[in-house]
Formats: sequence, structure tokens, C-alpha cells
Amino acid sequence: MPSKIFAFLILLAPFSAFAEVTYHKDIAPIVYANCTSCHREGESAPFSLSNYEEVSRKAKTIARVVDDGYMPPWHASPKHLPFQDVRRLSSDEISKFSLWLEAGKPEGDPAAAPQMPDFPKGWQLGEPDLVVSMAKAYEVPADGPDIYRNFVLPLDLPEDKWVKAIELRPSARSVLHHSLFFLDDSGTARSLDGKDGKPGFSGMGFRKSGSLGGFVPGATSKRLPGDLARPLPKGSDIVLSTHFHPSGKVENERTTIGLYFADSPPSRQLQEVQVPPGFGRGVGIDIPAGESNYVIEDSFTLPVDYEAISVGGHAHYICKTMEMTATLPDGERKVLLEITDWDMDWQDTYYFEESVILPAGTIIKSVISYDNSSNNPANPHIPSQRIKWGRESTDEMGSITLIGVPVEADDFTRLSRATKVERAKILTSLGRELINSRVASRLPRIIKSLDKNRDDNLDASELPERMRAALLLKLDADGDKSLNPSELQALKDWLENLKASEGV
Ligand code: HEC
Repeated sequence: MPSKIFAFLILLAPFSAFAEVTYHKDIAPIVYANCTSCHREGESAPFSLSNYEEVSRKAKTIARVVDDGYMPPWHASPKHLPFQDVRRLSSDEISKFSLWLEAGKPEGDPAAAPQMPDFPKGWQLGEPDLVVSMAKAYEVPADGPDIYRNFVLPLDLPEDKWVKAIELRPSARSVLHHSLFFLDDSGTARSLDGKDGKPGFSGMGFRKSGSLGGFVPGATSKRLPGDLARPLPKGSDIVLSTHFHPSGKVENERTTIGLYFADSPPSRQLQEVQVPPGFGRGVGIDIPAGESNYVIEDSFTLPVDYEAISVGGHAHYICKTMEMTATLPDGERKVLLEITDWDMDWQDTYYFEESVILPAGTIIKSVISYDNSSNNPANPHIPSQRIKWGRESTDEMGSITLIGVPVEADDFTRLSRATKVERAKILTSLGRELINSRVASRLPRIIKSLDKNRDDNLDASELPERMRAALLLKLDADGDKSLNPSELQALKDWLENLKASEGV
């Protein structure tokens, strides 16, 4: 126990209110309000904290993890704009756990206990409007590399819907790392499903017609504020694009999702602003072994007035800190998100208490740092190795995403176009990767081998998955999600020019 608290305790010992810190009077109210939402049967935490026995059994660990701030999990610094549903204990609440432990964990009078809150059963947000599950479970092996797999959830909706929230319930939480919710209105994903004898399919061989967000570790589902909602047109299927991380034990994942619909269409369309784009691919993350303070930064200037409703970061193991700031045209600087103790397992989306208005001309800047030394206990490589941008969890990524809407509904197209141009940054690093792997000189042969159906076009499904989105963005001039011979010639010219300009 910190000595200050101890001295304080001795001083106050004669006063009965402080002499007895009991479970029912002091601890239960804190636990029910801050812990039991996750620490109960069927929820994300590995054990339940819902009565005296359960809390008492873990008292020592609890005192430690609340003191060092590990629990309740919340990584956004409290020094800046206030967020909704903050999970942080006051210093007074934190000290109660050690006082209680020191006092021998007295139970106290059950009559003093608060009522256990009425937690919704099964779903954090209550009964969904529509519940869909994978038809069959997918078996994740005990070990081996990470697995990326898509699962189709056919919907057959008779009418357009607007989605306010999605809640995802994995059946094997320990292996499901994240899942993105894409839409497919072409039926292609359905036709690919199960072709290799296992549920789902690998690769992104379908054209995404939309997105409903995603589920990442530690995320909590929330309804979008006001009348905001994401479109779910009739005839669309949901495709769960899931990343598995084997756990050492064979697991069977059969994901269920619950959808919550809005009553009417929203008045404005959501537009994300991700800095840097492409989850950091655009800035070419490449971290030398042993480097303890590798920093990336990038910025984006808003072309229109923007109303930000939430912010969240994405990175992998060795990220240390991230910060997103907004510098307004009048020079005022707002910190939108600061994380000083990044933890890959807790990638929450933080909703601003009040949405933040950022006028046109505001510069949104992200600064993200990494510790690739062996002193970083989260480093997946011992000894440390060079780590580059990539999709495996042992590679790195890094970006911060604002979710919001243009203040004026009509400004959507301008904003959306500006974010697309921004994403073109990804191409410069893609070009460099292609040159370094000496693709340019072998291009005709490579195209021939990729063109599986020999129609002289490279369709989306024939392009290497890692580069597909970037290649189409750069080269697909007619927007048909396929590269025809003249577009492929443009690829050749582009690489030649890039090569000449970089003097490679
Ligand atoms: C948002 C969900 C959530 C909330 C809220 C939450 N926990 Fe946890 N807790 C977890 C999960 C998930 C784990 C297991 C994974 C981990 O250790 O990170 C965990 C692990 C723990 C552990 C084990 C840590 C260890 O080192 O073994 C303790 C103790 C704990 N929580 C106590 C608490 C207490 C006390 C509170 C409230 C003050 C709380 N938790 C609030 C989700 C939560």
C-alpha cells in the first residue's frame, strides 16, 4: 500500500466510516458500475466478478490491475476532449481496493449492497432487429500462421435498411482477432463460399459494394448518434472478413452478428478520415531491429466543414504511443486522441461527448511511435527483427481514423474525393515495392501468369490480393474493376517513369 494512503488511514482510523471498507458498502458499487459489464457469464472477460466470493478470490490481482490502470481497460488520455462512457476509476475508488485487501476483505452488511444492474442478457445493446450466424463453424488449427478468411452471411432483405449498430458474438474469442463487415450485392461471395471444402473463402475475389465497419479486440458496440446510420441496400450479403490468430488449441469459430436498424434514412452520409491512409501503408512503415523510438507521421487537410463523432487507432504489437491533433484555420489546436500506452488487445473507438466541429482548412495530423527494441515486452520477435508494414500481426500497421459527417450534406462528394486522393499516397510506396522486387522488367511474364482465364485482362480476382485495391485505384481508368491491355500498358509506363525518377 502506498505509504501516504497508509498514513491517511491511521489518521482517520477512529472514524468508523473509514475504519471499515466492506465489500457490500464500498467495493460492490465500484465493481458493478465498472467491471461486471464484461466480467460476467458469457461476456468478454475470462472470469466473473458479480458477488463477494468471486471478487474476494481475485482481490489481490484486482488491487494490482486497478492501481496500474490495466483495468478497467481504457487507453485514451483523459487530458483532452471528453469522451462518452469513459471507463476510468477515480483515485479514491482505486485506493478502496487496497484498503479493503489490507483490512482482510471484510464482507460487511449485505443490506448495504447496491442492486446489481440489470445487464441485458446475451447482447450488450439489447435484442437486435436481425440476428445472423455463419451456417457452419470454421476450424482454426492449434498453430501455424495467421489466417484471413471471408464468410458470407446471406441476408435476402426485401427492402433497403439503415444500420445504427452491429454487435458481433464470436464463439471462439481466443482466436478471432478481428472481423470487418463488408457488403456484396453481386452474389459473387456466395458463389465462392465453400469452394475449397471449408466454410468461407480466402482472398478478396469479390467487389465490395459497401462496408458496415468492423469488430476489433476490446471494441464495445455502440449506436451511431442522432439520425446517422450506414446503408444496407436490399440484395446485399454481409461478408465477414475475419483474421484468426491460432491460440495453441484447435478452435471452432461460428460467428453470430446482431444488427440494429434505424427507422428512417439518415440526413447525412458518414465519411471516415484515416491518417495515414491504408492503415499506414501510405507512409511505408519500415522499422529497423532494435530501434526504440521509430516515429511515423502524416496529415490531411479537410476540404469542407466536418463534424467528428468518434476516433480510434489501429496498430499491432510494438506500437507505443499515438496522437491525433487538429489545427484549426484560426490556429487553435485540439488533441482528438492521445494514447500513451498502446495495447493491441484494446483498440476501442472513442466517441466524443459532444461531436467536434472542424472547419474547412483544419489540418488533421497523426503521430505514431513504435518500440522495436528487445526491451519492449510486447515485441513478438526475440531478438528484435526489422519490421515492415504488413497484414500479419507480427508485421506493423499504424493509423488513426476519425468517423464523422460533412456539416453540409452536399459536401459529401468533395470530402470523399479528397480522401480518395489521399489514399493515392499508398501508391508511391507500392511503386517502390514493385521496383525493388524488379517487377518492371518481368512485367509481361507476370501478367501472363496472373491472367488465369487468358482474356488479356487482369480482373480484380486475378490481381495479387496484397496490391489489388491500390492497383485498381491507380490504374483502373474506366472503373470496371479489371485492367485491360491499355491500362496494363499504363502500369508499365508508370513503373518505367518511377524507376527513372528514383534513379534505381
Ligand atoms: C470492457 C471489458 C472489461 C471491463 C469493463 C473490465 N474488464 Fe477486467 N478484463 C477484461 C478482459 C477481456 C480480461 C482478460 C484479458 C486481459 O487480461 O487483458 C480482463 C482481465 C482482468 C483481470 C486479470 C488480469 C491479470 O493480469 O490476470 C482482472 C484482475 C480484471 N480484469 C479486473 C477488472 C476489474 C476490477 C474491473 C473493473 C474495475 C475490470 N476488470 C473491468 C475485460 C474487462
